[in-house]
Amino acid sequence: MGQNLILNMNDHGFVVCAFNRTVDKVDRFLANEAKGTKVIGAHSLSEMVATLKKPRRVMLLVKAGRPVDDFIDSLVPLLEKGDVIIDGGNSEYKDTIRRERSLREQGLYFVGSGVSGGEEGARYGPSMMPGGALEAWPHIKDIFQSIAAKVDGQPCCDWVGPEGAGHFVKMVHNGIEYGDMQLICEAYHLMKSALGLSHTEMSQVLDDWNKGELSSFLIEITRDIVKFTDPDGQPLLEKIRDTAGQKGTGKWTAISSLEYGIPLTLIGEAVYARCLSSLKDERVAASKVLKGPASNQFQGDKKLFTSHIQKALYASKIVSYAQGFMLMREAAKQFGWKLNMGGIALMWRGGCIIRSAFLGNIKDAFDKKPDLSNLLLDAFFKKAIDDAQDSWRKVVTTAITLGIPTPTFSSALAFFDGYRSDWLPANLLQAQRDYFGAHTYELQAEPGKFVHTNWTGHGGSVSSTTYQV
Ligand code: 6PG
Repeated sequence: MGQNLILNMNDHGFVVCAFNRTVDKVDRFLANEAKGTKVIGAHSLSEMVATLKKPRRVMLLVKAGRPVDDFIDSLVPLLEKGDVIIDGGNSEYKDTIRRERSLREQGLYFVGSGVSGGEEGARYGPSMMPGGALEAWPHIKDIFQSIAAKVDGQPCCDWVGPEGAGHFVKMVHNGIEYGDMQLICEAYHLMKSALGLSHTEMSQVLDDWNKGELSSFLIEITRDIVKFTDPDGQPLLEKIRDTAGQKGTGKWTAISSLEYGIPLTLIGEAVYARCLSSLKDERVAASKVLKGPASNQFQGDKKLFTSHIQKALYASKIVSYAQGFMLMREAAKQFGWKLNMGGIALMWRGGCIIRSAFLGNIKDAFDKKPDLSNLLLDAFFKKAIDDAQDSWRKVVTTAITLGIPTPTFSSALAFFDGYRSDWLPANLLQAQRDYFGAHTYELQAEPGKFVHTNWTGHGGSVSSTTYQV
């Protein structure tokens, strides 16, 4: 990633000094990939700092966590007031908040920037989500916006907000990435197991989907993955063990959703789906004991059901993005950040892993109404869900009947049904809490008024205090 970002910057006319703790790597880079470019190499941090123009701009691309702090600690004594440190890794936003504050006290400006798009993106145009010390932005804006991906001539990079806003937005991007990937995996599961489609047929279906509203990088690569064959002519996909790992950003998104009380149910299920997949030995043992329906084969019009899956995927994806934007809105409120939701959609429109035509529709929704409270209420997305709803319900009920797990399709639908309900059974929940713990309940007719009932006649009339976490 680091090497590719340097080469990308070089292509755009910026002279970059490269450094790596393993100094051989610098020499090999200069002798190979960076040969014939203007890239300079340094064999020590002090040598690197000495070559930089002031205010110095130092960008770190190291593993999140301790390595970032270690690098910052080594850099700080070498820098001067007004210099800029940028962390381009997948750092936790709370770490970024801490680092920005502490470096500010030392007269340095810290930027935590999400960078998405993998190695290819870094080389030819990533999506970049910088946030932190606004004072740094004029010094890095030109570089970042020059190297970022462009959509209709607009860079997929803009200032996100103060403190950890850039890394928060990147974290939500990754959570959404988890959701998008799991949705596609469930569609694949249904096509493979319920419909019995061949790899060529599945690839064709994905190719068709990629021409419509689902058009996206992840559908495109999945189309290619599904049809990829090993030298023996067999699909490589079926030789890959069905267990998925994770580096943590999806988990952090789910944790934040609990922390801020925003139901990111789809992303949560996507994280859990990875966890369940990795319990391979337990699943294999359980599969010998626990039985589901007699057959998981779909009986009916396969072509029609494939189009239902397409619509279910689209509707679920709308819910996932609506949830992601809900979380960003809540974080913005909690931290006092002013997040430009349309600007974020544009940053994700190109260059990043979740890039898609669909993000253009999200951008349009926020352009029309910058304070839109929920994407589901935008006319375009409301109609899209109206059009997809019957198919979505058919897919979820069919999957349940056939015993094929579709946690993200199903949880998205449950969220949709809950969100559109003016009544939910939480009155009973309040009553249960009051019955067993005297937690009090709020009156329907007098919101804000909490009372306790002696439900059994032998409980006391004393209630516990009412508080919310
Ligand atoms: C990106 C990706 C990237 C992420 C990988 C791995 O935007 O380029 O989100 O930042 O690190 O996708 O993530 P997991 O290992 O957690 O799947």
